[in-house]
Amino acid sequence: MPWVYIEDLAAHVGEEVTLKGWLHNRRSSGKIHFLIVRDGTGICQCVASRADLGDEAFASADHLGQETSLEVTGTVREDKRAPGGYELTVSGFRIHSPATGYPIAPKEHGVAFLLNIRHLWIRSARQHAILRIRDEVVAACRDFFHERRFVLFDTPILTPTSCEGTTNLFEMDYFDLGKAYLTQSGQLYAEAGALAFGKVYCFGPTFRAEKSKTRRHLTEFWMVEPEVAWYTLAEDMQLAEDFVSYILRRVLERRADDLKILERDIAPLESAARTPYPRITYDEAIERLKAKGLAVKWGDDLGGDEETALSAEFDRPVMVHRYPAACKAFYMKRDPARPEVALCVDMLAPEGYGEIIGGGQREDDYETLKARIVEHQLPLEPFEWYLDLRKYGSVPHAGFGMGIERAVAWICGLHHIRETVPFPRMMERIEP
Ligand code: 4AD
Ligand code: MG
Repeated sequence: MPWVYIEDLAAHVGEEVTLKGWLHNRRSSGKIHFLIVRDGTGICQCVASRADLGDEAFASADHLGQETSLEVTGTVREDKRAPGGYELTVSGFRIHSPATGYPIAPKEHGVAFLLNIRHLWIRSARQHAILRIRDEVVAACRDFFHERRFVLFDTPILTPTSCEGTTNLFEMDYFDLGKAYLTQSGQLYAEAGALAFGKVYCFGPTFRAEKSKTRRHLTEFWMVEPEVAWYTLAEDMQLAEDFVSYILRRVLERRADDLKILERDIAPLESAARTPYPRITYDEAIERLKAKGLAVKWGDDLGGDEETALSAEFDRPVMVHRYPAACKAFYMKRDPARPEVALCVDMLAPEGYGEIIGGGQREDDYETLKARIVEHQLPLEPFEWYLDLRKYGSVPHAGFGMGIERAVAWICGLHHIRETVPFPRMMERIEP
């Protein structure tokens, strides 16, 4: 019989087909076994009767453990009440590999327990919904840039320097060449790409040795980073707005079923898909926070609590621009009209999800950038190539980075970022 995936059953009503999958659950009524089979694309109830199977085969289906792998053959029937809308009337089945004592029962378990068996937890319905939404977000990111003729520009993961400060670098010995570091961001290389191709993006794993155990921090996360020659901060913000609203529309359109499994209220996502997004200065952000009674003063960086309080004031992402330069990385261009602030932007997601995007315009003057590197106590030598970009045809340029896991946590409405990636890496977790 032809092998079909559960998600394709609609096209095979009335036909006899074979499903290949795993036993998710089963019930029995004495004369009938209900085998709930999953194959990664969906779930299908397979109805096996003693009359159809014969005594021996029927009895063997009685002892199947959860996650036993099997092939089930039968006729596809439409049934509105069945999960997924289709059922299989079983004519035969073959056990591939029996499983006994599967540790995850269809009941509630604690997160710590589940994280320890993450390799199995990813088989469950909620985790499927989250990781499918992640897949859609990633595909949307790539399509957005590809459609706009950005060139994918893969940047190295092993690097000789830091990009986002030296306090959270993963360091290693690199043969006879001294220290190397896991990249914190592909940005510096993407800048070289932008000056070569005009508009590029990089998209890869990035690393931060974060000593913070918050629900927003991973030590390994994926970042998508566009970089565009001739762009200033205003154009960069417009790109970020177009980008995020595109991703939201795409997920709402294509992953409605998964959002439903997660019981995600989609009204806030629909609002967040609407443009324009508000743009406020850091100065205004501080005033708003003070008015709300938070103890902040000009010059402070905004932490998770401040971001949550600010984002609560808007029904869509808000872009906060022109932070004090002292809070930000060495490469940020200062506002010529106000050198104490940087031409940077953070996009804060609504519903308390905080910063999902950080970016801005880059310092494009050779001497100024060189002075900043020294000010930040970074070694000049490994930045020579980066300074070259300001020597040979320097132009204004800007870009940003969006953390995929932050975006997915928000879109899925998750309390913690750890479920947005198949195998999360955090300060207190390296396994499985
Ligand atoms: O604001 P960040 O540090 O900016 C940069 O790395 C720039 N070089 C990006 C650029 O302009 N090309 O990080 C960008 C985004 C954050 O807004 C957040 O979404 C995510 O990366 N991020 C993290 N996500 C999970 N865990 C962490 N520890 C993260 N740190 C940053
Ligand atoms: Mg940031």
